[in-house]
Amino acid sequence: MPNASDRPRRVTIDRDGPIVVEGPVEVVLEDGSVVTSQRFAAAICTCRRSRTYPWCDTSHRRRTSRARGEPQQPCPRSDGAPE
Ligand code: FES
Repeated sequence: MPNASDRPRRVTIDRDGPIVVEGPVEVVLEDGSVVTSQRFAAAICTCRRSRTYPWCDTSHRRRTSRARGEPQQPCPRSDGAPE
């Protein structure tokens, strides 16, 4: 999918969370299948805990909250969109 814009596509890395890519975006999975997000930005899971992999469903927050001793956060989104 070509980038129609003249400016570079922005990819934002969150050390403890997803990689957020300006959309629309296609993601090629390990098995060669392709999933697409038409949203203006897509959050791609890097922790592999998402139930909607490859899209981030905020499950990474439970891991980082526990590690820090903070209360768990709910997981309100399941569509790969950043908050
Ligand atoms: S980065 Fe894996 S659920 Fe958010």
